[in-house]
Amino acid sequence: MSSSMDCVSSKDKQETASPAKSPWWTSETVAVVTGANRGIGHALAARLAEQGLTVVLTARDEARGEAAAAALRARGLRGSVRFRRLDVTDPASVAAFASWVRDDLGGLDILVNNAAVSFNEIDTNSVEHAETVLRTNFYGAKMLTEALLPLFRRSAGTSRILNMSSLLGLLNKLRDPALRRMLLDESSLTERDIEAMVSRFLAEVADGTWQGQGWPAVWTDYAVSKLALNAYSRLLAARLAGQGVAVNCFCPGFTRTDMTRGWGKRTAEEAGRVAAGLALMPPGDLPTGKFFKWSTPQLYSKL
Ligand SMILES: NC(=O)c1ccc[n+]([C@@H]2O[C@H](COP(=O)([O-])OP(=O)(O)OC[C@H]3O[C@@H](n4cnc5c(N)ncnc54)[C@H](OP(=O)(O)O)[C@@H]3O)[C@@H](O)[C@H]2O)c1
Repeated sequence: MSSSMDCVSSKDKQETASPAKSPWWTSETVAVVTGANRGIGHALAARLAEQGLTVVLTARDEARGEAAAAALRARGLRGSVRFRRLDVTDPASVAAFASWVRDDLGGLDILVNNAAVSFNEIDTNSVEHAETVLRTNFYGAKMLTEALLPLFRRSAGTSRILNMSSLLGLLNKLRDPALRRMLLDESSLTERDIEAMVSRFLAEVADGTWQGQGWPAVWTDYAVSKLALNAYSRLLAARLAGQGVAVNCFCPGFTRTDMTRGWGKRTAEEAGRVAAGLALMPPGDLPTGKFFKWSTPQLYSKL
């Protein structure tokens, strides 16, 4: 793996992942998408169902999730769409979901950790809900990933995890040099270090001292959650190297969804289509430990 989570253009990969060319998946291939009742997750689930996979559309709210799944089924997409309730912040919900994946589906092939929250307007930087943001975007994705890891089928390099992340969480946004050094040093970085960083941030939020400490300046709590998710993804990719599960991150860029209050450069459908292209990359092309950024034409690193 590279020494840092590289930022890679999705454009070329998207083309090589063209579903029309000898797809590696079948209708038995199971893709789980969290937070898929709306926004990018919903569009991504639709695209995966269009490609003929079995898609597990998850949502924390039963009624919203059922309605979102019914809307996809009504479109007559090739793949089957299953709905399952899942609140990624709730250990009981995560455990029940993992049991269902094991008992009813016999495992999974693709996990997209998409569910996330941000409570900021475009131009504000409140950390009032920092605990919820970290609990959802980082700890939730991590808890679900760890619960599902034993259930990946791990056949012929097809197992993959795609973590929906953000450029706001790249290391160049972190202004504390000691923390940057810690996150960059893969030989010594541990999950405990990442969690200690998150705990320190939340403690500073709680006692009102978080400003001026070198945290990312924009949407700080959200940025810290994605910073932690990126770092965890890198460690996980290294941990699973040679074990048949790839782990990558993807930033869809500024997309018009509820999260951005409808602001953005592209639609959720456009972002979902690119995310699906990454989730469906052919086994031979599939990297691990990478950070994909929307449509930047060349390979470069922002770390
Ligand atoms: N939009 C952008 O410009 C942008 C840019 C970079 C990265 N991203 C990332 O892309 C992903 C999708 O974002 P989006 O813009 O589509 O957001 P969105 O429209 O706000 O949708 C977020 C989804 O996450 C779900 N969710 C929130 N908390 C949850 C929980 N505890 N358990 C399960 N589901 C939960 C929401 O469910 P409810 O309906 O129940 O609230 C909703 O389905 C996120 O990871 C986001 O960070 C987005």
